[in-house]
Amino acid sequence: MKILMVGSGGREHSLLWKLAQSPQNPLLYAAPGNAGMAQIATCISIGVTEIASLVEFALQERIDLTLVGPEVPLTLGIVDEFESRGLKIFGARRDAAMIEGSKSFAKNLMRKYRIPSGDYEVLDDPKKARAYLEKVGAPIVVKADGLAAGKGAIVCPTLEAAHEAIGMIMEERVFGDAGAQVVIEEYLTGEEASFLAFTDGKTVLPMASSQDHKPIYDHDQGPNTGGMGAYSPAPVVTDAVHQKIMERVMLPAVRGMAAEGHPYKGVLYAGLMIKDGEPRVLEFNARFGDPEAQPLVVRMGSDLIPVLEAVIAERLHEATIEWRSEPTVCVVMASGGYPGQYEKGKVISGLDEAASVPGVVIFHAGTTLKNGKVVTDGGRVLNVTGIGKDIRQAIATAYQGVKKIYWEGVHYRNDIGKKALDRMVG
Ligand SMILES: Nc1ncnc2c1ncn2[C@@H]1O[C@H](COP(=O)(O)OP(=O)(O)O)[C@@H](O)[C@H]1O
Ligand SMILES: [Mg+2]
Repeated sequence: MKILMVGSGGREHSLLWKLAQSPQNPLLYAAPGNAGMAQIATCISIGVTEIASLVEFALQERIDLTLVGPEVPLTLGIVDEFESRGLKIFGARRDAAMIEGSKSFAKNLMRKYRIPSGDYEVLDDPKKARAYLEKVGAPIVVKADGLAAGKGAIVCPTLEAAHEAIGMIMEERVFGDAGAQVVIEEYLTGEEASFLAFTDGKTVLPMASSQDHKPIYDHDQGPNTGGMGAYSPAPVVTDAVHQKIMERVMLPAVRGMAAEGHPYKGVLYAGLMIKDGEPRVLEFNARFGDPEAQPLVVRMGSDLIPVLEAVIAERLHEATIEWRSEPTVCVVMASGGYPGQYEKGKVISGLDEAASVPGVVIFHAGTTLKNGKVVTDGGRVLNVTGIGKDIRQAIATAYQGVKKIYWEGVHYRNDIGKKALDRMVG
């Protein structure tokens, strides 16, 4: 069996790592991959948006199954293209990926199907947007409608900041056409959690809960990033909360998408704000989270391939997943300067020492090989993931791995998992 993974981040490396352990012993390919993925797969230099080249490669190489990591190729219709050529692929089709690709589409879906979420208005004229801001006041959240690489949602504590966000998104168009419309959304408080599930358009098979850490610095300070670390499970998602999320969010979303003529197949990810045990949706994503995939995948006890195949065949009701009870914690190690400007090409040391710490798995993100050495090649560079008998031990294990790794300018948060720990302690 030949499997192609589309993507080059920590999420993709973790999924590939899981596939490599399958008893089906698949032959693995990655496009474009990274230095870590190259150790378990054949990397081919085709970018994630070069869909025609990916189709050609899959046909030529007789790839049996393709798995898509990032959102951009999904919203460009990679799944539709592969399917039209008779190729098996796991991911949301173009129309279904709108749930992530257009925030107004997602908000309108939530309103129509009564999925709990903040109040909002969609506006395509900056004058009207500014007038609406004056009416509702701050704090408020301004979001570019389209994809903006995780930078298009701006939490505005004051009206002044909100006007600035309108200027940036709609007038300066810093996110291009993604800013032609904005969603202006009620500011919600509580604790965030990520809830991911497999779905074939009918059945929803939930994964374990997880929690991301968006801001660059400890104690959630500084600008937002793609994610600086994650852990699973998230104690804020109690059994009761889990049930509410399934009944009020996941099932209505999947049924709503089908009713709208956009049946949803793949991974559906709900970004949630949970307050007093009540979940409300911040956004939907059409794929695994990065870094949430990393701690989740390490806890997956059963083979992943049958689940992917059950989604594609629309027989997910027959599938199950076992989860290891031990918690996992993933610490992202980033380039100095990220999420702003940073340098690439720094030699990374200590990778083997870190990997030999019991309970540590290292997933690469922005890495590449240069003269036989692993060097930095992106903002988020490594994902050091630890497993332990409890959250405290998982944190300690992950940081034991982190401390063995070094490159010039390396930056990471020191408090990944602390929220879970605080909740356990009291
Ligand atoms: N309505 C809201 N109330 C409070 N915080 C929000 C709200 N919407 C988004 N946020 C914050 O902004 C972050 C990014 O928003 P999100 O909708 O997930 O957009 P994206 O991931 O596409 O950038 C969230 O993780 C959350 O911290
Ligand atoms: Mg988000």
